[in-house]
Amino acid sequence: MPLLEVKNLKTYFYTYRGVVKAVDDVSFELEKGEVLGLVGESGCGKSTTAYSIIKLVPPPGKIVDGHILLSNGDGTIDIVKLKDSEVRRKIRWKRISMIFQGAMNALNPVYTVGRQIIEAIVEHSDMSKEEALERAKELLELVGLEPDMVKRYPHELSGGQKQRVFIAMALALNPDIVICDEPTTALDVVVQAQIINLLKRLQHELKMSMIFITHDLSVISAIADKVAVMYAGKIVERGSLKEVFSEPYHPYTQGLLKSVPKIKNPEKIIWIPGLPPDLINPPKGCRFHPRCSRAMDICREKEPPIVSIGKNRYVACWLYKEG
Ligand SMILES: Nc1ncnc2c1ncn2[C@@H]1O[C@H](COP(=O)(O)OP(=O)(O)O)[C@@H](O)[C@H]1O
Ligand code: SF4
Ligand SMILES: [Mg+2]
Repeated sequence: MPLLEVKNLKTYFYTYRGVVKAVDDVSFELEKGEVLGLVGESGCGKSTTAYSIIKLVPPPGKIVDGHILLSNGDGTIDIVKLKDSEVRRKIRWKRISMIFQGAMNALNPVYTVGRQIIEAIVEHSDMSKEEALERAKELLELVGLEPDMVKRYPHELSGGQKQRVFIAMALALNPDIVICDEPTTALDVVVQAQIINLLKRLQHELKMSMIFITHDLSVISAIADKVAVMYAGKIVERGSLKEVFSEPYHPYTQGLLKSVPKIKNPEKIIWIPGLPPDLINPPKGCRFHPRCSRAMDICREKEPPIVSIGKNRYVACWLYKEG
């Protein structure tokens, strides 16, 4: 039984323009101690998938179908079916925590770092303020900061330090799963590498499972064990990092990998033509067909199902048959 199994998840936004099918029949699994990289262009539904897992989809969004099964010792709990109060009490922070996209700017400027970590811990556990202060110092050390940093104010911290504070908070109650949503996107390259290395070390030491979301393939290759490639609200390919990167099957994955500059011949970058579709009226058939150089008649008519084409290897494209 996997630690987390997302099954046929659909999360839509009911806007005045129409229904945005942000996550449309998404399935994947996460085993204990594993890092899943969720990759895809901006707007393809990565953050919405993450918010769905901790049931914090902002309005007008709603989970409309599917299951999010979290292993609970001998059985599983379906997070989709839990009441908000139960998710708050049993799941968020304790079992699954999340480092949000742009979290860095979310520290309250008028409170010390220590106070903010302590408040978060006290709110989500039975710890006293004194215990929480000790835990806060321990956590700061764990993420490579001075325990004394509890006395500092957010404006005294660099971007990288603030991101470390958020990582510390996410780890506060020893969750089984940490979801990192583009945790390094706003940082410069050197700090980005430091944060990735920190997350890698922590993941290893604490044997955490992680869902790592990014649009950046080089970041994925540095941290993930397996990859799910998302396009226009759907997962189009998944498999181990090694397999997906060395032999991508889906034309979209192939395009993504070709658009990464190579040191040897940087002039050989090939961009995928066109833009991702509007998720209110996505193209009929395969959602990638208007941009796909290998599109066939069937691609414009019928949606390709995601099929298994090897051990833990899946692709949704009419060029491939099951097995
Ligand atoms: N609060 C919202 N209201 C309406 N539409 C939203 C909202 N949040 C996200 N969306 C839409 O859902 C789709 C997926 O967005 P998101 O999950 O943020 O993608 P990603 O994280 O991959 O960039 C986009 O089309 C986006 O415009
Ligand atoms: S199903 Fe057709 S259009 Fe879609 S990726 Fe495969 S070949 Fe291209
Ligand atoms: Mg996002």
